[in-house]
Amino acid sequence: MSTANQSAVVADAPEDNAIAAEVLAGLRSSPKRIAPKFFYDKKGSELFDAITELDEYYVPRVEKQIFAAHAADMCSAIGPGSTVIEPGAGSCEKIAWLLPELAPELYVPMDISAEHLEHSAAVLGEQHPQLAIRPQVCDHTAGLTLQDKLPAGKRVFFYPGSSVGNFEPTDAVAFMQRMRALMDGDGGLLIGVDAKKDPQVLHAAYNDADDVTAAFNLNVLDHLNNELDGDLDTDHFEHHALYNEQAGRIEMHLRCTASHTAELAGEPIEFAAGELVHTENSYKYHPDEFAALGEQAGLKPKSCWQDSRGWFSVLYLEPA
Ligand code: AVI
Repeated sequence: MSTANQSAVVADAPEDNAIAAEVLAGLRSSPKRIAPKFFYDKKGSELFDAITELDEYYVPRVEKQIFAAHAADMCSAIGPGSTVIEPGAGSCEKIAWLLPELAPELYVPMDISAEHLEHSAAVLGEQHPQLAIRPQVCDHTAGLTLQDKLPAGKRVFFYPGSSVGNFEPTDAVAFMQRMRALMDGDGGLLIGVDAKKDPQVLHAAYNDADDVTAAFNLNVLDHLNNELDGDLDTDHFEHHALYNEQAGRIEMHLRCTASHTAELAGEPIEFAAGELVHTENSYKYHPDEFAALGEQAGLKPKSCWQDSRGWFSVLYLEPA
């Protein structure tokens, strides 16, 4: 499906060999780890959508309230006529919160999944026929590159949903430095950031009563099996998520329940009973903590919007 205002997807997908090498390196390291980007096959994306509907997972609800209350201010901070680039755009639903007031010259949604991206961009294109859309397949966590021949004007990056919390802080700085370099002096970054809060609220958000987050975490094993012809057995693992208050982050792990050997990409991998496989960190930042990271990347906050409880913030940063 495509629409008149949406050009063909620009592809930049990683090779299978590179994926195998990356995953095997993670599973051979100590402690074992799997990068969170591997959560998102078709089923993983559906499970993530289900997470966003959970009572315990407050993030989407609170973020949406902030956009509903402050979208006009955000659009005037950004100004019209920019190229808006959204790494990890997924379903491309959040940009609609800023349309039509934002009036960008071009919208460039990026996602690792070509199929999902094409569909989402086409749906958006039908809903917003005036919006020029140029989707780009890109694993922005491995390196952010821009397609050729983007308009010369202002480039604004849009990174909602608190996905920046899934980077290590030093990697978050490097990612923002990269965006800043691609702004070429004139541009900005509108970014969602989840805040530190009552540990019980955070714990519940990643340990929901219906075990949807557990299913999302375990599904990474099925995804890797499909991708790399493996036999990782979800029955040998359980979901384990905790709030590490000192580090200011939620940690998600898969805990191995019985020692065994599995195979992936033709390679044996040994697991010990009780061993943890680290699948995700989700860092939580007060706005001033996040502004300090932005400054390390050469960006300074122009505005910050929050909900009344201060659970979530949306910041607009510009080159310092
Ligand atoms: C995508 N990201 C912002 C989510 C988070 O909260 O860190 C991923 C997630 N993991 C478990 N629940 C949600």
